[in-house]
Amino acid sequence: MNANTPPAPTRTLARILKGQPSSDGGGVRLTRVISPEFGLDPFLLLDEFDSAEASDYIAGFPAHPHRGFETVTYMLDGHLQHEDHLGNRGDLVAGGVQWMTAGRGIIHSEMPQQTEGRMRGFQLWLNLPAAEKMKPAGYRDLEPTQIPTAALPGARVRVLAGTLAATLSSATAAAAAEPTVGPIVGGATDPFYFDVGVEAAASLRIAVPPGHTVFAYAFEGTPRVGGRELPKSHLGVLVDGDAVEIVAGTQPARVLLIGGRPLREPVVHYGPFVMNSAQEIEQAIRDYRSGKLTAA
Ligand code: CO
Repeated sequence: MNANTPPAPTRTLARILKGQPSSDGGGVRLTRVISPEFGLDPFLLLDEFDSAEASDYIAGFPAHPHRGFETVTYMLDGHLQHEDHLGNRGDLVAGGVQWMTAGRGIIHSEMPQQTEGRMRGFQLWLNLPAAEKMKPAGYRDLEPTQIPTAALPGARVRVLAGTLAATLSSATAAAAAEPTVGPIVGGATDPFYFDVGVEAAASLRIAVPPGHTVFAYAFEGTPRVGGRELPKSHLGVLVDGDAVEIVAGTQPARVLLIGGRPLREPVVHYGPFVMNSAQEIEQAIRDYRSGKLTAA
């Protein structure tokens, strides 16, 4: 980026939504921030789980199916073990990510590997286009060391997906950092997923593709995002512009900044299945009941 380039229009925070207490799986207490009915295309669901009480998480997520989308699990604290119907097994540890493509079908479990201590993280559901909903299931298990971190004075950004091009807002740091490329890039929705930590009084400007749906979720502190205060456990939808500005107040702040290209296709959701029509949902239920959900 050239220092003489005029700054791109900054996105504004158009809608703020508070996460709601919920429970899922075997009875895991979590905060459900968005669900498929919210219409944040291409994102279907965002859950935050955060508890140091084993009774809140110990039941885990026993075997359950998915079809038609991707799940992205990002662990901040704790240890989950993932297992599927094919015998694939993977460990999710603090700082790691599992990017799972359910495609035509997966039956999996996600179970805690600890009986005490804090369990904290997020699960995001990312929709697949109609043409990819029935593709074979697949995984990307990303170790903490595979997630690059962009370190800027006063800010630190882990890049789970997409390409980060960020600049500090302060005039004393006019130099733009080199873009940081995450382990997941491209695809139909071309998603980016940034874990943004900003120190007290620091601010950061992050470039985003103009056509993407973009949201921020504050999970530590109360930063200003897109010109408005975004309290902890709140999601803000950011509209109109090529950049997002995140400003920490007197306390440090931490925010998920996530975006993707909208699919603009019909979304029909039933439990763990997300398809384009009621008929396809009925087919998914029939396939699951007859043991054919995952059949090639
Ligand atoms: Co699942």
